Amino acid sequence: MATPSVASPVESPEAFAEYLAAQEKKSLLRFLTCGSVDDGKSTLIGRLLYDTKLVFEDHLLALEKDSRKHGTTGEEIDLALLLDGLEAEREQGITIDVAYRFFTTERRKFIVADTPGHEQYTRNMATGASTSDVAVLLVDARHGIVTQTRRHSFIVSLLGIRHVIVAVNKIDLVGYDEKIFTQIRQAYQAFAGGFGFKTLTAIPISARYGDNVTARSERMPWYKGPTLLEHLETVDVEEDRASRPFRMAVQWVNRPNLDFRGYSGTIASGRVAPGDTLVVAKSGKASKVKRIVTYDGDLDQAAAGDAVTVTLEDEIDISRGDLLAAANDRPEVADQFAAHLIWMHDEPLFPGRSYLLKCGAKTVTASVTDLKHKIDVNTFEHLAAKELRLNEVTFCNLSLSEPIAFDSYDSNRETGAFILIDRFTNATVGAGMISYGLRRATNVHWQAIDVSKESHAALKAQKPAVLWFTGLSGSGKSTIANIVEKKLHAMGRHTFILDGDNVRHGLNRDLGFTEADRVENIRRVGEVAKLFVDAGLIVLVSFISPFRAERRMARDLVGPGEFIEVYVDTPIEDCEARDVKGLYAKARAGKLKNFTGIDSPYEAPESPEIRLDTTAGTAEEMADRLIESLRERGMIA
Ligand code: ADX
Repeated sequence: MATPSVASPVESPEAFAEYLAAQEKKSLLRFLTCGSVDDGKSTLIGRLLYDTKLVFEDHLLALEKDSRKHGTTGEEIDLALLLDGLEAEREQGITIDVAYRFFTTERRKFIVADTPGHEQYTRNMATGASTSDVAVLLVDARHGIVTQTRRHSFIVSLLGIRHVIVAVNKIDLVGYDEKIFTQIRQAYQAFAGGFGFKTLTAIPISARYGDNVTARSERMPWYKGPTLLEHLETVDVEEDRASRPFRMAVQWVNRPNLDFRGYSGTIASGRVAPGDTLVVAKSGKASKVKRIVTYDGDLDQAAAGDAVTVTLEDEIDISRGDLLAAANDRPEVADQFAAHLIWMHDEPLFPGRSYLLKCGAKTVTASVTDLKHKIDVNTFEHLAAKELRLNEVTFCNLSLSEPIAFDSYDSNRETGAFILIDRFTNATVGAGMISYGLRRATNVHWQAIDVSKESHAALKAQKPAVLWFTGLSGSGKSTIANIVEKKLHAMGRHTFILDGDNVRHGLNRDLGFTEADRVENIRRVGEVAKLFVDAGLIVLVSFISPFRAERRMARDLVGPGEFIEVYVDTPIEDCEARDVKGLYAKARAGKLKNFTGIDSPYEAPESPEIRLDTTAGTAEEMADRLIESLRERGMIA
């Protein structure tokens, strides 16, 4: 890494210490730039970095050479090239989609989140915006407000950014015309009225020539407002976090010895001082703060952004992931809520599919129960949807495996945000902003039933289980399941078959064969299979069940050892050659859409309990193998 060419404070150790101290005292502003290269975004960021002198020396040298070589701006340095240079450097490191750049002035430190790329804009913007307090929206003076401006504004507002700067760029190309600037400003104000921005400032700039970026332009005497940098230096975003109710997620319980028990985390919002009463949001247990401990000694007060360890007067039950909150202003606690969700993954979201949900330091499993509507990010129209694709935004209901503590995103961006994580790959697949908790489920309680699953099973003298047959259509699932059931029945076992074709005539008659419908198909059957297991039965489930995620969900619904995944492994050529129902022929002829193995995917099990290679024997033999395996597992005597 090259050294920065800032007015060099490194001449003496004293000067350096002074410099560092001054840096620490300055406030930090995080902001996001929205716009494309065509709008001059790279040039603008390059200009800010260049004018504030935090440009890397060797980059500068290379740049002067490059500018001459490419000659897009005559003898001047091409600032867009500067940014591309940094870009290349960034790409050698870890590839993240958002680049964060740092610069500083006398008054403030800045982190700019730059979200490159035209594709995946929503995802990248969401990543950059979630930590930003201000958004700079670039508008090309020649084009005014375009679809992209509307889209960016919507996402910025959705992500809770309350301070917006409309940088009307390339004002030089419209002759520094005040009228054009005023028109754009007024049009934007009219359009953004409903977005809930606290400040909205329009500034006419030329990123290329530097007008009104860091230095006031002499070519626009009609403009009396601040330069972009002045505004960034003074816009007041601080009020927010520290003035909110106290919240801190417990990252870990610090217990070095029996005499000390502290709860460590970063304060998400509000302030805290010894003597304050806090509650554990979920249990409602309260205690007073005894000490606020840090590496540099105890504090008499701490605020949002501080990493601290809090000790309490009383021993109450607190674990990692719990949310500590002001006793007189508590968060909501619920296991269902409504939220906006931005989808960030190539594989779509399906209602009913289970994901990990991380909110603060707490992780639970969750699924979307109702996609209320999708929002078109360009027109803000509400559209009906059965699934959510990459970069799409929805308003939906989610249901969690257990209650969590949260605030609405509107009132607290720290405790009202969550991410969804894929359970297999651990990839972050969605980002959410909670609107409100749903009380519905909290009024429905579990009814205690005296005859338990164990008693049901004991009466039948058997171990209940799910034998989950998965495989392509025509692979032989139902045939084998049928023989196995006959054999078990003959042995005096209590069994029941749930078969795809049959269940689709009743319980699931409303479902077709889209991916979304198949997810719901298997979710329902998984729940029914669980009920049968509770009834003490051996239930044979014979569904294509093409997705790993739903088979995993069905597995998780029952107890350990109660789920036996049976992969009926028949090559598609064999299924197609048999084609008992004539469906493959129809699918090949294009008369049947979304047919598994042809134009709809099948995800083979990675580690099924039993794999039946149907090319190696008859259905009868496969059934015997399965029975034998059940014996070996102690499932049957
Ligand atoms: S699943 O994919 O949702 O698990 P399920 O097992 O319920 O499917 O139903 C599969 C059965 O429906 C097949 O055996 C076949 O008889 C019939 N079927 C009709 N259309 C399709 C299709 N497009 N894809 C697969 N099976 C289909």
